[in-house]
Amino acid sequence: MARFIYEGKLAVFYQGQGKLNDYNKLVERLEVPLYQDITEETSELFFLTWRDGCLKLLDREHLKKGGLTVEIAPRPGEQHSWPAPKKGVLAQALGRKTTTVVDATTGWGQDSLHIFRMGYGLRCIERSPIMVELLADGFKRLAEQDWVKNRSLKVPELIFGNAIIELSTLVEKPECIFIDPMFPPKRKKSALAKKAMTVLRDLLGDDEDKEQLFAKAFQIATKRVVVKSPNYAEPLAGKPSDSFSGKLLRYDVYLKN
Ligand SMILES: C[S@@+](CC[C@H](N)C(=O)[O-])C[C@H]1O[C@@H](n2cnc3c(N)ncnc32)[C@H](O)[C@@H]1O
Repeated sequence: MARFIYEGKLAVFYQGQGKLNDYNKLVERLEVPLYQDITEETSELFFLTWRDGCLKLLDREHLKKGGLTVEIAPRPGEQHSWPAPKKGVLAQALGRKTTTVVDATTGWGQDSLHIFRMGYGLRCIERSPIMVELLADGFKRLAEQDWVKNRSLKVPELIFGNAIIELSTLVEKPECIFIDPMFPPKRKKSALAKKAMTVLRDLLGDDEDKEQLFAKAFQIATKRVVVKSPNYAEPLAGKPSDSFSGKLLRYDVYLKN
């Protein structure tokens, strides 16, 4: 299956860092080629490799640069304690009294990790095989952090699959489902689009089924669905019950009753 998604687009690149066996397993799971050298003849545009102990996604134009990885450190401005205070627009949208959250569109895991650090009980769903690999590597590194080990915290469960299907299979329904689907950019190659999101869009395309995902999320969540979207986009499911805006984005909250 992954072979068809990534054919001619993605390969695994071994440059001597990490265990060759891990690369071979990655190649088997994603059904993509393994290269030890990238030449003019190489057609792929994206490469997965381990550098500095992290699984990284490199794009061909920036092969020598750092590459993109699931960043597990708190973002600038976020408190380094655990649980971090439930403040800011994301916490307002999720609800401070909410205990359980499912992130149905985990992507680079940045919202998930913020939600986790604020002490919510979190499960994560992601359907893209390449993002699942990057997330699994990030969550593995997270589990090894002192602050996680010292508090005996369990890192979020990562569920691989389409949330439209996976949400129906959850035995314990979450109070809140968070969705951040990919919206078409305002302008092509918007200067504002973050590098990670641009790469993701190149690899995965827009999420054309976001309305279906919202409908399923609203059916399953017991209390609310939160939709993150760029400020320029129309609300995904009509007028929200509440809305919290950041500089470039908005969290629309749809309450169940
Ligand atoms: C815009 S990104 C999410 C970014 C994320 N919030 C972050 O902080 O890094 C959207 C992600 O959701 C995933 N996605 C979209 N629809 C999905 C679905 N129905 N089921 C599972 N994953 C989905 C895409 O594969 C993509 O990785």
